[in-house]
Amino acid sequence: MTFLSEPEAVGRDLPRRDGPAKVLGTAAYAGETPLENVAYLHLVQATIARGRVTELDATAAESLDGVVAVLTPGTAERLASTEDRELAALQDVRVAFRGQVVAAVVADSSEVARHAAALVRVSYAQEAHDVELRADRDDLYAPEQVNAGFPTDTAEGDVEAGLAAAAVTVEQTYTTAMYHNNPMEPHATTALWDRDPAGDGFLTLWDSTQGVHPTRETVATVFGLDEAQIRVVCPYVGGGFGSKGNPHVNVVLAAMAARAVPGRPVRLALTRQQMFSLCGYRTPTIQRCALGADRGGALTALAIDVVEQTSRIKEFAEQTGVPSRMMYATPNRRTTHRLAALDVPVPSWMRAPGECPGMFGPEVAMDELAERLGMDPVELRMRNEPEVDPDSGKPFSSRNLVGCLREGAQRFGWAERDPRPGLRRRGDWLVGTGVAASTYPVNRMPQSTATIRRERDRYVAEIGAADLGTGTWTTLPQIAADALGVPVDRVDVRIGDTDYPVASVAGGSSGMTTWGSAVIEAALAFRDRYGSEPPDGAEASGSVGEPDGRYAMHAFGAQFAEAHVNADTGEVRVPRLLGVFAAGRIINPRTARSQFIGGMTMGLSMALHENSVLDPRTGHVVNHDFAEYHITANADVGEIEAHWLPEHDPYVNAMGSKGIGEIGIVGTAAAVSNAVWHACGARVRDLPITLDKVLHALEEQSAL
Ligand code: MOS
Repeated sequence: MTFLSEPEAVGRDLPRRDGPAKVLGTAAYAGETPLENVAYLHLVQATIARGRVTELDATAAESLDGVVAVLTPGTAERLASTEDRELAALQDVRVAFRGQVVAAVVADSSEVARHAAALVRVSYAQEAHDVELRADRDDLYAPEQVNAGFPTDTAEGDVEAGLAAAAVTVEQTYTTAMYHNNPMEPHATTALWDRDPAGDGFLTLWDSTQGVHPTRETVATVFGLDEAQIRVVCPYVGGGFGSKGNPHVNVVLAAMAARAVPGRPVRLALTRQQMFSLCGYRTPTIQRCALGADRGGALTALAIDVVEQTSRIKEFAEQTGVPSRMMYATPNRRTTHRLAALDVPVPSWMRAPGECPGMFGPEVAMDELAERLGMDPVELRMRNEPEVDPDSGKPFSSRNLVGCLREGAQRFGWAERDPRPGLRRRGDWLVGTGVAASTYPVNRMPQSTATIRRERDRYVAEIGAADLGTGTWTTLPQIAADALGVPVDRVDVRIGDTDYPVASVAGGSSGMTTWGSAVIEAALAFRDRYGSEPPDGAEASGSVGEPDGRYAMHAFGAQFAEAHVNADTGEVRVPRLLGVFAAGRIINPRTARSQFIGGMTMGLSMALHENSVLDPRTGHVVNHDFAEYHITANADVGEIEAHWLPEHDPYVNAMGSKGIGEIGIVGTAAAVSNAVWHACGARVRDLPITLDKVLHALEEQSAL
């Protein structure tokens, strides 16, 4: 099943429908939902990383004018489910990480709430904590599976034999930092608990979330409520990058506070600093990579052994080794994941979990292998194209990595590149270029339904989908219009509300595949039922179907970077990034370009700037604000270009589209590291690439 005819709306660079409301400031975000008599919640956080609260004195806070309630482990309601210990707010006095919530204050204003929170006196029995991730720990363990349900380890052939038989090998350790998602809009919830005379209640959450229905489901479980007793509303999200994919403890606390003051809305907006302990982050990773190749560059072995962290209260296992299972052909392959459970906040999804960190080590290792072989790194990748997915043995529905590499090389001017490092100099700056491959799977969620209705002379598609800044408000109407065979300006969508049909999370770049498929099914049912003259009120629904299990489905890309390294200070600048992607049909070039470029910018940020510094003495992320956690800004970005190949893949979904929200970040950091090496000869295998590391690598190099 595909579109009824050649698409007309799909493929057009229509401007964002939500643009004017956002620019004019009339788009109401969760934390500014206009309601009367709002109370404000402010959190009290643990100042130790492990132990328990021995005394909590709220007297001073409670006596402050305007304080409505203080929630503590002693006064907070008992939750129906505490199975998810990240969400079991104020249920006991244990402290499992620094920054965990130990109390919360509700007050008439946010200022009073914040002031009162500072007056809550907390005493602790502190225990020795352990927050240090090292590969030589003796308590590393293998999780049962890794994120998204992948097996923890895979093995094929004999890696040691493959390395022994290789003409050239690379065996190195690569590390990525701890990163925090840091969307522009802080996590925020406005919660209202209405109690009717019968004593039942109804909870409304205006929550900044990547999925209203998944949030409702989780909140219902935690509070023991019926899903019919909860409505979650979220028309706009100021970014999430995965940190709003699962409800975190802030949502539970907002709901809990609302239930403590029935009839009155309660608002909780996390501060930027609080976001560094309460709503997820990307685990640091240690990646031991081994590659072997014959003289012709064919891989004889590929291994990646990953060590990463999780929290003691809840396991999250980043699937860092997973992309190495399908990228390149080799007879001998091993991928493993081991975790250290530490006294740290709970790690979670951050843009391209797995692929993003997992395409750093191996893609730098490929560059090192090319160096040792004296082979062009673009050519080396092309020589290791698998005929089928090495992991599943299935054919790829489409795989255009080679096309991306070719097109990127041509656009970037790769042909003029001298492969030797440290040759080009412009004034004080050494100049180099680098390449890396990118990939992201085509994910489809099992559940989503859309309803299409004729309302007077318009068509309306309803689905509880999210637009976290990606463009759903604009792209779903394009899909609906072509599926109905009507002009796009006669189509409206209603999303971001559990009052609309159930929709999956905006995660894993699965939104368009999942919701778009549901919309097309609804449109087909609608046309079947009503033909081309549907009456006012005509209505039909449709749901997303099963994926075509015969194929391995992935998007691919090639990332090119130019790096300038200051010959004296080691400072790195990246004046040019160019990415070419093969991601199926592009629904809207304008919103797509924004996704690709945003991802690449975030990849540059990962390469050079972002780094959550966890002090082992306190378990505290010491740079927990935007003054010290630097995210690549305008002045750090030079030319940045995203291109895509015209890819027609009839197997991925009815639109022929692959997800594009995440692939842009994948491979960027490796391309930058490879460009830094090409500029100055220093291999920096530890992210971020800061000038001290560049200078250190150069010194080591010259000592050889
Ligand atoms: Mo994305 S990290 O799958 O929300």
